[in-house]
Amino acid sequence: MVVRETVAFDLEKIDRLIQEEEAELEPKHRASLEYRKTAERHVAGGVASSWQDSPPHAIFVDHGQGNGLWDIDGNEYIDFHLGYGAMVVGHAHPKIVEAIEKAARRGTHFAQPTRDLDVIGENLADRFRLPLWRFCNSGTEATLEAARLMRANTGRDLLIKIEGSYHGHHDALMFSVVPDPAKIGPREHPNTVPQAMGIPKAFEELVRVVPFNDLALARRAFEENRGRVAGMIVEPAMMNCGVIMPEPGYLQGLKDLCHEHGAYLAFDEVKTGATIAYGGAVEVFGVVPDIVCLAKAIGGGTPCGAIGATEELYAPVLAGEYDMAGTFNGNPLTMAASRAALTEVLTKDAYEGFGVVDAKMKEGLRSVIETRGLPAYVTGVGAKGSVVYSETPVREYRDALGVDERITYLAWLFQQNRGVFKSPWTKQETWTLSVWHTVDDAQRYVDNFAEFAAAVAS
Ligand SMILES: Cc1ncc(COP(=O)(O)O)c(C=O)c1O
Repeated sequence: MVVRETVAFDLEKIDRLIQEEEAELEPKHRASLEYRKTAERHVAGGVASSWQDSPPHAIFVDHGQGNGLWDIDGNEYIDFHLGYGAMVVGHAHPKIVEAIEKAARRGTHFAQPTRDLDVIGENLADRFRLPLWRFCNSGTEATLEAARLMRANTGRDLLIKIEGSYHGHHDALMFSVVPDPAKIGPREHPNTVPQAMGIPKAFEELVRVVPFNDLALARRAFEENRGRVAGMIVEPAMMNCGVIMPEPGYLQGLKDLCHEHGAYLAFDEVKTGATIAYGGAVEVFGVVPDIVCLAKAIGGGTPCGAIGATEELYAPVLAGEYDMAGTFNGNPLTMAASRAALTEVLTKDAYEGFGVVDAKMKEGLRSVIETRGLPAYVTGVGAKGSVVYSETPVREYRDALGVDERITYLAWLFQQNRGVFKSPWTKQETWTLSVWHTVDDAQRYVDNFAEFAAAVAS
């Protein structure tokens, strides 16, 4: 075994570097800071969503093109944020623009089905190996329906979820997303911690939380709640605290466990679907769950979502006993963009392209980590990856708590100040690649990272 010499992060130095980088960043965003003051007169906080207000300040965007993004101050970036991973088609892709333009000229909304449905359904069935699909407008709606489908088909109310996973902002599952360490309770029995104010206590009582990558504790949760669990929802690879891969056998073990207890397994593939491989996590890890929730990448940048499931699970919907409804479900603009994204842009070749850029990213980042002796490693697959600032593998949310946020913030500042737009650092966000990203873009990312590594290690 090769023992790697590493140098611990010097947090005092990191604090100093943060101050320097913030001082450099602030003047670059004068227009954003100014515009926010105007917006916040009548828009709460001056932003459309709380998670667009990541520290140090919200950055307002002017436009995007391919792999590039321009903010309203005129700064140009290579975009690795890509709208929280939704824009793997890149910005303003001509095929998506054409599809949306054509659809818009024919009417933007009917609340009636249109003739894109069969092609999209067939494409998703091919990718994710589930026969039946419905559409919605966000990842939140997709997981809401997954929770309800599992409950409807079992007549049970309890759900099991993973500590540290986010499944959207509805009341059924917005628990223990980034829970405060002071509130999480023992690892063997994590507390179900609401992520937002205003979620009724009654919902909390319907959710059990377990750590990722621990089959024994999932089994225990099922056994302690025998006959009461409708199903379990899991992000097959966790993507909201860096990328955490499932250990071999874990996902299949969960599926067997759910079925042994007369419950269902749902994969939340909102982030992994159509990004980590053509067939998402189903393809990469070779496990077909009972339900797959999709959103983000499948819509080519439009508000989208999809729920795939077995015929058994869809039976109450087909029988008219369960209304899976929404005014904008299957909206013609979303369907046109989705069809173009799935059949013309995110073809099997696209995933080979992600593989090439991903290999360059990982090779470069690993080499920097090695040379500088950083206690960190690189992880991810396909269009998704992250540097994890830990010497030992992060297998679950509680391991990720050991990473000081100042490190991820500084890494973010170094990229942002050097022309790389990244997702907010607060949850150790991943990077996303688009079909426009090249090995030169990967090199840019690596070069910035090398500057960060040199600064913290010197
Ligand atoms: C894994 C996962 N599920 C669900 C959601 C919710 O999706 P949306 O923001 O489209 O409602 C997200 C959003 O980031 C997510 O990462």
